[in-house]
Amino acid sequence: MSLLICLPDSFEPRILCSSLQSLDPELKIEIGPENVQNPAEVEFAVVWNHPQGLLLKYPNLQAISSYGHGADGLLADKKLPEGVPIVRLTNETMANWMSEYLLAVVLLKRRQLLEHASNPEFVEWGTAARHPGNQLGILGLGYLGKAAAKVFLQMGFDVAGWSRTLKQIEGVSSYSGRDGLTEMLNKTDYLVNILPLTDETLNLLNTETLSQLKRGAYYINVGRGQTLVEEDLISLLDAGQLSGACLDVFRTEPLAEGHPFRKHKKILITPHNSCSTPPEAVAPQIYENYKRAISGRQLLNLVDLKHGY
Ligand code: GLV
Repeated sequence: MSLLICLPDSFEPRILCSSLQSLDPELKIEIGPENVQNPAEVEFAVVWNHPQGLLLKYPNLQAISSYGHGADGLLADKKLPEGVPIVRLTNETMANWMSEYLLAVVLLKRRQLLEHASNPEFVEWGTAARHPGNQLGILGLGYLGKAAAKVFLQMGFDVAGWSRTLKQIEGVSSYSGRDGLTEMLNKTDYLVNILPLTDETLNLLNTETLSQLKRGAYYINVGRGQTLVEEDLISLLDAGQLSGACLDVFRTEPLAEGHPFRKHKKILITPHNSCSTPPEAVAPQIYENYKRAISGRQLLNLVDLKHGY
């Protein structure tokens, strides 16, 4: 019996390995994909950006875990072993990091701090310089969206959220469906996109939907790049319909050197680091799912293949 870790080197698979080993010194762990000693022994795999078809090599796999909140990269593999359940991670530290990033970006915009940094005479002394509007809309009210909603509520923002199904979160107006999306966008000053990538969310943010935001709204994408039609965002920024955007995720990552986002004055880009996976913090959840998988028990954070997340 073994657990396979297959992560890019930059994700430091050895730290995850030692965190798991400190939970269970008897646990046999293989770090792949190369040199897996005994493929038939692998019963659980933790993966991120794995080579397509890799998971077919392990005939006794009981479950596969994505090493992040999203499972779209895993599900994009057209050669996954049939019937093997897929789980993803949810983690409080990751939710805190995400909320921290979103708060930083929204406040940077709201208090116009970049303008102050580049031009200290930007406003007269003693006058208030704030981006107008207090309405924050969150696309995606899952684990991360809900945590962020609570942080913004505490800061005094009016918070709304849009999700596949209506959610009950105290103080947050909940919307769903296409009409619900329009209704929320119509009143939004800051739009935060934390949507998973699914057939329904692909290209959802385009000229039609983004034009429904209040004039001068600010757009933030920390979900997946493929939910945004990039040229549409640029046109709306150039036309002044949107006042700016902060993008952490892109259709192709890393973002190409000459990509128009890089030099656009109204776009702030960050390298998909709004939130990363802390190995020590997620090891207990991975180990719990490993134990459940090998004993045939209900898994945590099971991905619903029908809905794609
Ligand atoms: C990061 O993109 C994640 O899905 O956790």
